[in-house]
Amino acid sequence: MKDTFQSLSDLDRAHLMHPVTEFRVHEKKGPQIFTGGDGIRLETADGRSIIDGFSGLFNINVGHGRTEIGEAVAAQMKRLSYYPSFWNFSNEPAIKLGERLAGIMPAGRGLDHFMFTTGGSDANETAFRMARLYHAVCGEEKRQKILSRRWSYHGITRAAGSATTLPAYHIFAAPDPLHIPVAAPYCFRCEFDKTYPGCSFECAEDVAAVIKREGPDTVAALVAEPVLGTGGIIPPPAEYFPRVEEICRANNVLLILDEVITGFGRTGKWFAMEHWNTLPDFVSMAKGITSGYLPLGAVAANRKVYETIRDKSPKGLPFMGGLTYNNHPTSCAAALANIDIIEKEGLVENSKVVGDYMLDSLRSTFAENPMAAEIRGLGMFASIECAMPGTKEPAGGRPMVFPAAVASECYNRGLIARALWENISLSPPLCTTKKDIDEIISILVDAMEIVTDRFNE
Ligand SMILES: Cc1ncc(COP(=O)(O)O)c(C=O)c1O
Repeated sequence: MKDTFQSLSDLDRAHLMHPVTEFRVHEKKGPQIFTGGDGIRLETADGRSIIDGFSGLFNINVGHGRTEIGEAVAAQMKRLSYYPSFWNFSNEPAIKLGERLAGIMPAGRGLDHFMFTTGGSDANETAFRMARLYHAVCGEEKRQKILSRRWSYHGITRAAGSATTLPAYHIFAAPDPLHIPVAAPYCFRCEFDKTYPGCSFECAEDVAAVIKREGPDTVAALVAEPVLGTGGIIPPPAEYFPRVEEICRANNVLLILDEVITGFGRTGKWFAMEHWNTLPDFVSMAKGITSGYLPLGAVAANRKVYETIRDKSPKGLPFMGGLTYNNHPTSCAAALANIDIIEKEGLVENSKVVGDYMLDSLRSTFAENPMAAEIRGLGMFASIECAMPGTKEPAGGRPMVFPAAVASECYNRGLIARALWENISLSPPLCTTKKDIDEIISILVDAMEIVTDRFNE
């Protein structure tokens, strides 16, 4: 086994480039190779068992090793593995998945038309393209701008990457100027120096101010993660989305909710928008739609948008957007089997119950830890924001070093937790139990303690 591991490790260094990885560090350290998984646990090629406290990349909602999904995928591949869905070509799993999702989407705004994509970035790209098209067929071609909040991650392809406002993603490529940043509902780091409750929701009002400044007739849409994810797992105040929705409607700016992480039970509801009864024009999804068993994303358009494009597009002009793998039958079959598991095992409810337990336990366990400045979350999605005691300065004195050190100590002790900027973050599979949470937190306690001691030496 050791030989196999060593030769795989050498071959990885010789031939692979990894995302979000410093190539020279990778060559020195080598890869962590995973060979199996069951429930919330992963097996490594060097024989360790590790708790996947982050569900891969916030996506393995049903956990690892679900043979039902593999069987559904194999059966579909044997029948028809792929055929394009351009023009009027279609396939059974995509049709069934569209019908299924229409039933899962919150009622009230007719979110019942879907295009399946390959992931989250192209779901957002498709929503932007459709939003601009919607305005164009309504005679408002100038509505091209897309607003997005600071601390957002919407993907990394050109338009989605331009809507991503985290500066680290723009180091060598400036965002497209049609993408305009607005304030984020990030109370801990409020850019208006206000305190919630007691503020006037200046972050929501900023959406109105930016629309006014840019000219309402130039703004196509606002894209927003219901809970900011990669930015640090930041749920908004309850008042935020109702006001933002109102501002968008008043200005005929379409609202795109990016539920790529928050969809499929992550926050204790099927979709996070249900927490505030927000009804957008588009929803982008990915990740938990297949729990990562195969790549898939989706964009849902509401009936107003769909019917307007249908009825007002110039005759003979098709929707000129399409990827080879849109509505992929095998990926859609994986999604259907994944949704079966979520429903049968009550994983949305489990995400709420065990997620509440996780948040309460984190809050009580780290209440006295001077580096834990704020603990927040929703469902199976939580962060400890770290800072120097009594300040908002990075714990450890330099940006991002403290949470990264905690994550690394967690890994050494058998837990994958992730550093997101100044946060140490958890996003375990939705099948995690309270007992698992106790184990996760006890590892986190040890890791925090050892790193806190190291930084206080
Ligand atoms: C909220 C959000 N939107 C979009 C994306 C992009 O998805 P993908 O990596 O599948 O393109 C991500 C990925 O992490 C995400 O977190």
